[in-house]
Amino acid sequence: MKANAVAGVTEAPIKAGTRVLVRVDYNVPLTVDGKISDDKRMVDSLPTINYLLKRGAKVILCSHFGRPDGKPEPQYSLRPVYIHLQQLLPKVTVQFAPSTVGQAVEAQVASMSNGSVLLLENTRFQAAETANDPEFAKQLARLGEIFVNDAFGAAHRAHASTVGVAHYLPSYAGMLMAREIEQLSQVTANPKRPFTVIIGGKKVADKMPLARKLAERADYLLVGGRVAQDWQDDGVKRRAQIYIAPDQGLDISPATVAAWRPIIENSATIFWNGPLGQFDVDPQNGNGTRAVAELVANSSAISIVGGGDTAAAVKNYQFTHVSTGGGAALEFVEGTILPGIACLKQKGGK
Ligand code: 3PG
Repeated sequence: MKANAVAGVTEAPIKAGTRVLVRVDYNVPLTVDGKISDDKRMVDSLPTINYLLKRGAKVILCSHFGRPDGKPEPQYSLRPVYIHLQQLLPKVTVQFAPSTVGQAVEAQVASMSNGSVLLLENTRFQAAETANDPEFAKQLARLGEIFVNDAFGAAHRAHASTVGVAHYLPSYAGMLMAREIEQLSQVTANPKRPFTVIIGGKKVADKMPLARKLAERADYLLVGGRVAQDWQDDGVKRRAQIYIAPDQGLDISPATVAAWRPIIENSATIFWNGPLGQFDVDPQNGNGTRAVAELVANSSAISIVGGGDTAAAVKNYQFTHVSTGGGAALEFVEGTILPGIACLKQKGGK
């Protein structure tokens, strides 16, 4: 999918007072004591929010947070995120809705002033979200007149707030979404070779099949983190030479970094998704991730790094693009047309 294929928010008919429902991905990483450890996903959503506020729109934000079991669970409330959002928008009235949909929320929306923001409670506090239930999508859609999807990180999920709602409202891509599509497209169509893919992280069930698919297109596949520990060789011969970190601890070892070094240094394109050690357990386990980040940043390759946790770990290094998407970036690069993008208006189309 090309960046210019979907209609962007600047094409949306927005005037003072227009209610705009914006899907953001505020599923931000937390420290063990519950503090936001990296607010990149929030900061990167500000251009779209500010664009809308400048036009006097009423901005209704919705997001999921964590994986609650389809019911309200206090540790997955977006309230701490709301407090941080208010700090990021100090001159703007930002309010929080303790529910996602319903009469009380509709009343809150009705009382919003032009150029203000309302953040709804976690969309996943009802099972209807992940089930992409049409009734729930309609309830969400009632809150806005226009839908803007800026949640690239959740665009691989066909849920009510990412896809369902687009059936009921004119739907546009936010600025973060458009930039992600443009940047990641560099790796999808015709990557400069050698093309190296580095995969780590914890969501093994999601990542293993995608890593295998990417191995059909990449020249090298380097696997660390939990994915390496759980890796199962399926015996299929693929294009890429595959290197699975042999380390059994909570981080990849200096020997693994040394073995990967020449591959990284000789690459022309690098796509990296997922931390290589479990530094959320102990920051020491970030040493392998940081060593690889340094190699990637110092290489002359086009470097695209994806994933909330990865971005948090490597924020002191420079890459061509740091994606807000984890699984979404992985699926996009693998070639899937993501449902949260496919449902948006086409540029110049319907
Ligand atoms: C992510 O962090 O990758 C996105 O927010 C999607 O979260 P999920 O894997 O829980 O759907």
